[in-house]
Amino acid sequence: METASEISELVGILRSVFRMVFGKLKSKNITEKSLDEEVLRVLRNYVIAKKHLKLNFSEPKDEIYKVEKGRTPYDILCYGNIVGRDFRIFINNKFGDLYSKSLNDITTYNNIIRLYLDVRQQRLKGKVIIDEDKIYRRFLGEEIISYGVFVFDARKRGFNFFILEEIDDEFYVNPRNTMFQVKYKPRISKTPLDYYSFVTKLIDATVDSLKKSKASIEAEVLILQTIKQQIMLIKGKKMNKRISFIETPKDIARLMVKLSTIQKDELVLDTGCGNGIFLEVLREKGYENVLGIEIDEELYKTCTSKGFKVLLGDFLSYEFKERFGLIVGNPPYAHFNQLPKQISENVKRIIGTSEGDIYYAFIVKSINLLKEGGELIYIVPYHFFYNTYAKTLREYILRNGKIELVIDLDEIRLFKGESPETVIFKFRKGVFNLSREKIKILNIKAKKVTSYEIMLTADEALKNRSSNKIWDYKEINHFTTPAIWSSYLPTSTSLFPQFPSVRLNQIAKVGVGPVSGFDKAFLISEEELLRLEENEKTLVKKFVKAKNCIRFITQGCHYYILTEDRMNEDDLRSKYPNIYLKLSKFKNILSDRYLPVGKKWFHWQALRNYNFLTSNLPKKRIYVPALDRKPYNRFSLGEENSLPSSDVIFIQLYAEDDIFFLLGFLNSKFFREYYLSNGGRRGGRVAFTQRILEETRIPLFSTDEKEKIGNITKEIIDKLRKCENTEKEESKIEQIVYESIKYQKFQGTLLF
Ligand SMILES: C[S@@+](CC[C@H](N)C(=O)[O-])C[C@H]1O[C@@H](n2cnc3c(N)ncnc32)[C@H](O)[C@@H]1O
Repeated sequence: METASEISELVGILRSVFRMVFGKLKSKNITEKSLDEEVLRVLRNYVIAKKHLKLNFSEPKDEIYKVEKGRTPYDILCYGNIVGRDFRIFINNKFGDLYSKSLNDITTYNNIIRLYLDVRQQRLKGKVIIDEDKIYRRFLGEEIISYGVFVFDARKRGFNFFILEEIDDEFYVNPRNTMFQVKYKPRISKTPLDYYSFVTKLIDATVDSLKKSKASIEAEVLILQTIKQQIMLIKGKKMNKRISFIETPKDIARLMVKLSTIQKDELVLDTGCGNGIFLEVLREKGYENVLGIEIDEELYKTCTSKGFKVLLGDFLSYEFKERFGLIVGNPPYAHFNQLPKQISENVKRIIGTSEGDIYYAFIVKSINLLKEGGELIYIVPYHFFYNTYAKTLREYILRNGKIELVIDLDEIRLFKGESPETVIFKFRKGVFNLSREKIKILNIKAKKVTSYEIMLTADEALKNRSSNKIWDYKEINHFTTPAIWSSYLPTSTSLFPQFPSVRLNQIAKVGVGPVSGFDKAFLISEEELLRLEENEKTLVKKFVKAKNCIRFITQGCHYYILTEDRMNEDDLRSKYPNIYLKLSKFKNILSDRYLPVGKKWFHWQALRNYNFLTSNLPKKRIYVPALDRKPYNRFSLGEENSLPSSDVIFIQLYAEDDIFFLLGFLNSKFFREYYLSNGGRRGGRVAFTQRILEETRIPLFSTDEKEKIGNITKEIIDKLRKCENTEKEESKIEQIVYESIKYQKFQGTLLF
């Protein structure tokens, strides 16, 4: 460790070199940006060549010191040898205020440690590899390493040059950016530290600094968490007041109020009255005893300022003494999870589940508050007709009265920013003989229509009990069970007499396909597939997506990488390197997916029905898009060895022979109408869900008819493969189905 005198000599020389540099540059217009270039320009060809000392300058040289392309942890390298010892001094040029007492960033502490210890890893992570011999040579002073700072005063008041080993101040590392920081005029000791003392001081000081900062960071984290809680509380309080305020267009309110048949002196309630649209219409129409209730104070004040009688409070917990002849309005819609706690507790108490919507609870409580014969007229989302969690609500409605009227607005956007599919319904409380009555239904046909047109034309259609250019008018039997309801009107209602049948899930397994959770990573093109090794190809599976279902047949397929849950990362990396490489590119996104416990980033999110599907891989099955806007059904025959993607539903028949018959029947218009009227409609689309399909009834056609349908289906498939027209064959199937049902050409007895 005999290097002190050599280092001192080098520092002395460098100070005079940088004095010269400063002298040359001070008359120039130096900026922070140009400083490095200017210093290099002066020093690039500067050489000292004496007997015991050779000294040169260059731009940063050694590749290992490059942090990023074009960026190094120092700006200029001074290198050479002194009394036979190689030296390298990494120099950082700084443009700044020599007289400021503040600390300034030099480079990250790990860069300095890397430079001194010759560590090639860019981050000090995991196991850091150190070359023992090299370090030992540096201990002995056989190789000299140092880091210097040249400070050019921004106001040209002078310069400073020092090396880190000379600094007498305590070292400091800023934990936020992990920068090693110094003053531009630090205290300098007489003799620079030797290599070993410097490196250990640097590490100790860094550890100390980071530890001290950890405590203050923890305190800050606490403060931030408290602030976040306060913000959440403020939001919670506001939410209590403002739960989904959306104003109803006045003409829609007029249409709804007009549906009522109660006397004008009866007690009327508007639940969640907002700005008082319904209250205004009720006043306009001459109702005398009207009350509103609103949870939001500002909205409440608006209503009272208009002279309305309004209660301020939560409808769901308010204890009314009155019973009402009419409850009308547009209640709030929000899923249980989006509600403030005290409201959601009420919702759960009223509807008995935490999976429903606040408007379900509004309906139940409103029915409760009606007197016998009283009417409830609400505009709400359509989903209480089919949602599983609205089943108890449907039950409650059936137990307490009847739905008299449904105005199905389908996908007409009445409320800005809100999802469409709204219905207006009218309920009457009481006990009725429903077998003698019908529900009046209006289904909107028009796609674009104003609220004013809706009001006029709906009123007209109801008065005339007939369709018009905006509406289809129908009268359908009352709903008798809480199973899925539908406002869809089959065009041929007479075609639905009871028929002997089996449920689809008695003859087939119906299910959904596996979900990758991020298709972009797992999808693989045919080109990429060709580049895989043979064993890697075993991880690639053929999937049928909704777009491959073209009705009767599938066309094309999609290839996906599928790593089963038992695959571990080491195996994937070593045995399937190309696949590993491809998936690794998406590692961050894949890791961010919601993954059940035990799954790794390269696994599929949910391998739904995977075991069943793979054990039936050599069999044919039927696929259908889970949600479809096409005006015809797209049940399609899946080729052997294919799997259903997450956007299709599969049907795997237990008796494979029946597959062609079933395919033909499912694609018939008869089945489509039947399915839609059983709750499959979602706005302008059809939802083929596992649940509805499983419950779907398949007529027990006679063997003859079944065979005929099957054979025609085969013909259709052949023709489609040859791109020929199949209209004639398809209408033959319609005919057989129609006649079988009309003339009851069935086998066996009624199964339901
Ligand atoms: C969809 S907006 C309809 C407003 C008004 N009825 C209209 O049609 O223009 C629902 C209203 O219900 C209010 N609301 C939400 N939750 C409520 C509750 N628990 N009790 C009373 N009002 C509530 C909201 O503040 C909002 O004004």
